[in-house]
Amino acid sequence: MTSSSSASNAPRFSRITGTGSMLPPRRVTNAELAAELAGRGVETSDDWIVARTGIHARHFAAPDVNSSDLAVQAARHALEAAGRHADEIDLIIVATSTPDMVFPSTACIVQQKLGVQGCAAFDLQAVCSGFVYALTVADSMIRSGAASKALVIGAEVFSRILDFNDRGTCVLFGDGAGAVVVEASDQPGILASDLHADGRHVDILCVPGHVSGGQVQGSALLKMDGQAVFKLAVGVLEAAARAVLAKAGRQDADIDWLIPHQANIRIMEGTARKLKLPLEKLIATVGEHGNTSAASIPLALDHAIRSGRIQRGDTLMLEGVGGGFTWGAVLVDL
Ligand code: UT7
Repeated sequence: MTSSSSASNAPRFSRITGTGSMLPPRRVTNAELAAELAGRGVETSDDWIVARTGIHARHFAAPDVNSSDLAVQAARHALEAAGRHADEIDLIIVATSTPDMVFPSTACIVQQKLGVQGCAAFDLQAVCSGFVYALTVADSMIRSGAASKALVIGAEVFSRILDFNDRGTCVLFGDGAGAVVVEASDQPGILASDLHADGRHVDILCVPGHVSGGQVQGSALLKMDGQAVFKLAVGVLEAAARAVLAKAGRQDADIDWLIPHQANIRIMEGTARKLKLPLEKLIATVGEHGNTSAASIPLALDHAIRSGRIQRGDTLMLEGVGGGFTWGAVLVDL
């Protein structure tokens, strides 16, 4: 008998029961970054970065700090908030594009650093949509009975893959991690998801290198056609939000907080306007964190919960978009 058909026939849902996050201590302002880049002959300014992106600062990890280190700290905070111990967790998913190693997965390294063993652990690669993909997978596994208590983590050290000679990308990204504990519940928490990918756009945002014969073949640095990504992002985010609302039988007005992927304040505010949400309902941490890829949504969520803005019972629209091209949305009753 599978666990999904055991016990009662009561519907099984999943809920977020705790959140946590971790930013590396080194905060780099636009002015500091511009001064560093000037030393390389790369010209940028605080004014340009703020006007085009809304970013004022980002955090960079020390050279010996990996995604798993940030992930473990975020996970510990999330476990504490949920009142759980690591040994109660039966599923660990780490969404990352900057894993510690080619293999094993960063999730296995996180499991080992948490001092537990035995539970399922794997990485999920959907670039900046990684967290909404991972949350959807955890929700599906919990609903099916394959798991009961999951750690879902987004963790990145994007500073490792930035080309500091390319001013069009190196000013945008930062490092960090965010985590949530998701548990089985008889009350709905994660209400609906809507995930997509369009592999025709692989080239507009990528790190094209790969390992072969003990060498990196091709470039191991991030490349982005910013305008192409911008145009696609603006179009898909509204559609994904509407799709997920329809699946859940909810309306725009039911959204208490919009927490989009934190890449560019112009995209985020544009999405809020299309959903007819006042900008006060937009959670924006891009100004202080930059774009932390798969970590950006759980980082923003945790900061908004810990600052008291988001309260239990609120309805959250989480939206990711990024390389692949991937995008998706998850509607959550907290
Ligand atoms: O995380 C995945 C999702 N990612 C995103 O959503 C990113 C989407 N794209 C964007 O956010 C924007 O396209 C960027 C912020 C990347 C760029 O903003 P933009 O308004 O599209 O600028 P642009 O690329 O059209 O560049 C405008 C000008 C160019 O100069 P010219 O050709 O007009 O003389 C660039 O060379 O700005 C120049 N430029 C810069 N100038 C100062 C580009 N980067 C910089 C810089 N500092 N850092």
